[in-house]
Amino acid sequence: MTTTHIALITGGSRGLGRNAALALALQGIDIIITYQQNAAAAQAVVSEITKLGRKAIALPLDVSDSSSFATFASTVQQQLKQIWGCNSFNYLLNNAGIGINAPFTETTELQFDLLMKVHVKGPFFLTQHLLPLLADQGRILNVSTGLTRFAVPGYAAYAAMKSAMETLTRYWAKELGARGIRVNILAPGAIATDFGGGTVRDNDSVNQYLASQTALGRVGQADDIGGVVSLLLSDQAGWINAQRIEASGGMFL
Ligand SMILES: NC(=O)c1ccc[n+]([C@@H]2O[C@H](COP(=O)([O-])OP(=O)(O)OC[C@H]3O[C@@H](n4cnc5c(N)ncnc54)[C@H](OP(=O)(O)O)[C@@H]3O)[C@@H](O)[C@H]2O)c1
Repeated sequence: MTTTHIALITGGSRGLGRNAALALALQGIDIIITYQQNAAAAQAVVSEITKLGRKAIALPLDVSDSSSFATFASTVQQQLKQIWGCNSFNYLLNNAGIGINAPFTETTELQFDLLMKVHVKGPFFLTQHLLPLLADQGRILNVSTGLTRFAVPGYAAYAAMKSAMETLTRYWAKELGARGIRVNILAPGAIATDFGGGTVRDNDSVNQYLASQTALGRVGQADDIGGVVSLLLSDQAGWINAQRIEASGGMFL
């Protein structure tokens, strides 16, 4: 008998998180996704996964609200018991995020604090709360951005938060290695999703410029990412640990 593995994906209602959820379900993994506002979109993802023959649920979560994490973790624990009859899940994908485009000189403290809460404080304390529920030998995959390697005006604060996650990835890998937990961080290039108001997808001049700066000659699609997530969480990638892996089609080489 094979044991069912379960992945928890923050921000699974749309974009990269949704694509990763479907890619993992296709590999036989059951899924817990979270959403912030789009309950209907999250339920649609759950239905798609169910049609693939896997179990899935969607839970509300605001990653900018660390005061809600203890309650969220208890809800996850109850759902694991009720739906799967177990006490742990195997993979955590810290994916939920927002984009704010603001030049360094015009970035407000409000924007900075929100980016920090969503992209650093949120994943930090959420992961801390979920660790007792993450199985030994499990995996954590954080999500960074190509913007930590190359600089595109307007993303100083956002990219700095993702750089913090790259550092945390190495620390978590070091501290959690004793439990066999691998921790890596995926850095997508520009992907045509709703992210940042859908600029990469909807703004032709931005789209064409980024495509021209990409070795493969186009921007990424959500479909370019799910497979990479699935690969990095697989046993075959088990010796990859504490790494930043960029999936950008070769941007700004
Ligand atoms: N797209 C890109 O070009 C790109 C490139 C590099 C890295 N990334 C990173 O990839 C991740 C996913 O981006 P995406 O392109 O898939 O974005 P997206 O299409 O805008 O989807 C964002 C997801 O995050 C959820 N979310 C947003 N704010 C949240 C909050 N405060 N608490 C909980 N969930 C929240 C949304 O939930 P609702 O649907 O309920 O709102 C949605 O599921 C982000 O971390 C982003 O920084 C994106």
